[in-house]
Amino acid sequence: MDDAAGAILEVRDLHVRFRTRRGPVQAVDGVNFSLAAGEILGVVGESGCGKSTLCTSLVRLLPENAEVTGSIRYRGEELLTKSGAEMRELRGREITMVLQNPMTAMDPLFTVGNQLDEVLRHNSSMRGEERRSRALEMLRLVHIPSPVERLRSYPHQMSGGMKQRVLTAMATSLSPGLLLADEPTTALDVTIQEQILRLLADIRGSLGTAIVLVTHDLGVVRRITDRVMIMYAGRAVETGDTEAIFTDPKHPYTRALLASIPRIGHTGRRLTAIDGQIPDLADLPPGCAFAPRCPSAMSGCTTAFPPAFNTGPERTARCWLHEGSPA
Ligand SMILES: Nc1ncnc2c1ncn2[C@@H]1O[C@H](COP(=O)(O)OP(=O)(O)O)[C@@H](O)[C@H]1O
Ligand code: SF4
Ligand SMILES: [Mg+2]
Repeated sequence: MDDAAGAILEVRDLHVRFRTRRGPVQAVDGVNFSLAAGEILGVVGESGCGKSTLCTSLVRLLPENAEVTGSIRYRGEELLTKSGAEMRELRGREITMVLQNPMTAMDPLFTVGNQLDEVLRHNSSMRGEERRSRALEMLRLVHIPSPVERLRSYPHQMSGGMKQRVLTAMATSLSPGLLLADEPTTALDVTIQEQILRLLADIRGSLGTAIVLVTHDLGVVRRITDRVMIMYAGRAVETGDTEAIFTDPKHPYTRALLASIPRIGHTGRRLTAIDGQIPDLADLPPGCAFAPRCPSAMSGCTTAFPPAFNTGPERTARCWLHEGSPA
């Protein structure tokens, strides 16, 4: 959605560059998007396209060697100028994350109950009993069986899927406005993946949380996201309504991604290889970064980088094929 008035998150001209020994790496390169309350945005692209860097920049958890420019407004407030303390506060309550590997994200020495209680104690004024009932409510929301007993479990007593559900409960226990889920199911098996993703959709439904979901699973993207941003070499090469993009992809990279879904039944529809490799982000070619792999490449594609052309209502594609599309 482009109407800034209703947006909970508004990202404008975001650039993230890492200083490395090999020279600067432009991991996010002029990304724009807005997200409305309760909306789910899918972020899709091959490994190394800048998806995690984008998520990490939104919560200001990038490493020291990163330089960020542009604007990230959350509920109208600029995040890039906030102090470390202000950001910690926001990350506890308002903007939370569920990451790829549930195995490392929980403290092995504390029970589930302790860990949920910590989150609530640090970030709210709830008293002991209230925190306990909120913790139970959250475990129920994420469909944990026998939640009262579960509060006494240690992480090693739970399966990977159960841990990811507990982490999701922790990340949503204060009804955040925004949840960032960076490949939350990659480390889990297929049936558990389905459950976690259903859960994210439920959470949006019951808490009104907006979600940025990074995933390789295009089947999931189609089922649970409202809008999609396709990333290639740090750039948002196509954005728009999910169904519109799946039925009528405009960017050749999106088409290649969709064509790469193996047609083998219902689940496990992951990206398989597209011919060729993503470019070196430390040494990007001058024109369209997809040109070396693009079946539609034209002579001008390697000289100038395509701007975002409007390709439909609230749709854009960074591809010269759409030059002259109505603005
Ligand atoms: N801390 C870092 N220092 C230098 N380069 C980094 C750092 N983190 C990520 N990168 C580079 O940024 C690019 C984007 O990485 P990433 O955001 O992890 O992509 P994705 O999540 O899409 O796989 C990659 O080229 C990666 O090597
Ligand atoms: S700009 Fe050219 S090379 Fe790039 S995706 Fe479009 S047609 Fe292909
Ligand atoms: Mg990543």
